[in-house]
Amino acid sequence: MQAKDRIVLALDVDTREEAIALVKQLTGYVGVFKIGMQLFNSAGPNIVHQVHDLGGKVFVDLKLHDIPNTVGSAGKVLTRMNSFMFNVHAAGGREMMRKAAQDSSAEALKMGIDAPLILAVTVLTSISEKELAEEMFVSDMKVEDLVVKWALMAQESGLGGVVCSPQEIVPIRQACGPDFKIVTPGIRPLWSAANDQKRITTPRQALDQGADYMVIGRPIVQAKNPCEAAQMIIDELEA
Ligand code: C5P
Repeated sequence: MQAKDRIVLALDVDTREEAIALVKQLTGYVGVFKIGMQLFNSAGPNIVHQVHDLGGKVFVDLKLHDIPNTVGSAGKVLTRMNSFMFNVHAAGGREMMRKAAQDSSAEALKMGIDAPLILAVTVLTSISEKELAEEMFVSDMKVEDLVVKWALMAQESGLGGVVCSPQEIVPIRQACGPDFKIVTPGIRPLWSAANDQKRITTPRQALDQGADYMVIGRPIVQAKNPCEAAQMIIDELEA
């Protein structure tokens, strides 16, 4: 995989116009565009087609979590939209993840297209061990152990990878092997501001630890020259 293909640009904007401008500007510098709930809900699902029509691969980051049949059906819709990746919560359980994987690959086969890469979201990085114990009543396990258990469960259920914090790359890679895709946010090159991200990793460190894809937003989008910023990240990954 080329360095550029590993970069997932977070399109964290409100309008179709802003998103399309970023896609047109950065399509030669990043491999995937991430559409999360902010843009999806403001611009509408058509934004996925529009980015795809401009030649961009799309990660639809809606973190599905519902009964298996509903998630399976939503996964079919996201497959028909030509998503390159989408994600579901591992907390939805084995059956939900299995249904997402089965329904999506059946739909892709029917359409004669590649099935999307379905990623599991394990423990959100915003959740602390204290919240896990006091609000979710998981008190006998460390976050890292739970994350690895859920990553393995996702793999056994037929999902292709996980979204996780840079801190979890190494144990997940060890547990799930070389083919399981690891996508990580919290990426900050040395020259960029941390913003609200706390535990950050440089693109190079994430790659060396075993990440396949890096979700990067503000270091590129808010740079004076976004193409130059993206190129510096590519250079760092290739160095
Ligand atoms: O601008 P920045 O590079 O911080 O953007 C990171 C992107 O990754 C955002 O879309 C954010 O929602 C997402 N993300 C994250 N941390 C997680 C999960 C997702 O920053 N644990």
